[in-house]
Amino acid sequence: MRSLNSLQIGRTTRRALLAFPAGRVLKNAGSRVGFAAILAFVLAGAVSAQHRITGSGDVQAKISYCKDCHGVSAQGFNGYYPIPRLAGQQPEYFENQLRAFIEHRRTNNIMFNVAHSLSPAMINALTAHFASLNPPPIGGAPPQLVATGRKIFEDGMPEVNIAACAACHGPEATGSGQIPRLAGQLYPYLIKTLNNWGKERGQNPTVPDASAIMSPVAHSLNKSQIEAVAAFVSTLRSPRGTPNTVQ
Ligand code: HEC
Ligand code: HEC
Repeated sequence: MRSLNSLQIGRTTRRALLAFPAGRVLKNAGSRVGFAAILAFVLAGAVSAQHRITGSGDVQAKISYCKDCHGVSAQGFNGYYPIPRLAGQQPEYFENQLRAFIEHRRTNNIMFNVAHSLSPAMINALTAHFASLNPPPIGGAPPQLVATGRKIFEDGMPEVNIAACAACHGPEATGSGQIPRLAGQLYPYLIKTLNNWGKERGQNPTVPDASAIMSPVAHSLNKSQIEAVAAFVSTLRSPRGTPNTVQ
């Protein structure tokens, strides 16, 4: 786990990350497919000059590095610290979050250290790669919460002025543009994120961003509503009927 050691992250976090070898073991098995996918992307026509200066080998190495933490096929990893799923994420949201870490709009030391050295060309290549993956959700949420969560997701809670999540995130929670996919996202990550919204997002007042749209929703949900809706979306595979794509 050489790449992790070069990061300036806390010892506890690093220890937790070292506790999961799965990403390393499967990494090599997937590298050829990943390379082909990136090559296809690079050759696909809408190739900017920026793409051409990022070698495919560099991109492949970086993808492996991301998956060291974000798990096999970037389906996320439930360790000491929940590491979110990146697979199938909306490109615009994905890029915006990488910039948010760099610009301190979104505070997270680990991802600041990861993101600030990525070139624009590398960000484009990584975005395209992770958007193309569709592994099944990890699961693990309490099944008894799912029905209540579905109701909140689909209908909102008009009595306390909470909009239906589906109105923005889409009926299958796939997201669009700067609105993220929630389908298959990790249960503990969703809970942590919704509970900490005002402390982690929209932290740079000179650069207002889309986190302000989500903020009133996050602040209106209580603890058990957060758990229920997190349980529901974490189980969703979407879009329905799409074959699983793993790498
Ligand atoms: C050392 C572990 C580690 C590595 C390596 C890492 N990440 Fe992360 N990443 C995290 C953690 C932890 C979070 C959650 C941050 C939070 O809770 O806000 C995260 C969050 C993200 C997010 C936000 C996801 C969301 O749903 O909002 C994106 C995008 C992301 N990482 C992309 C990447 C990319 C691309 C790479 C490779 C260049 C990478 N990460 C490498 C640990 C890592
Ligand atoms: C008015 C539109 C809107 C509604 C309604 C809405 N969201 Fe969001 N949501 C957003 C936007 C925009 C973002 C991206 C924020 C950012 O860029 O920081 C977001 C981000 C999120 C994230 C962060 C995902 C990640 O990967 O870190 C979670 C979790 C979330 N929403 C859950 C919900 C839930 C649960 C509901 C319903 C109770 C809901 N949202 C309703 C617009 C909305």
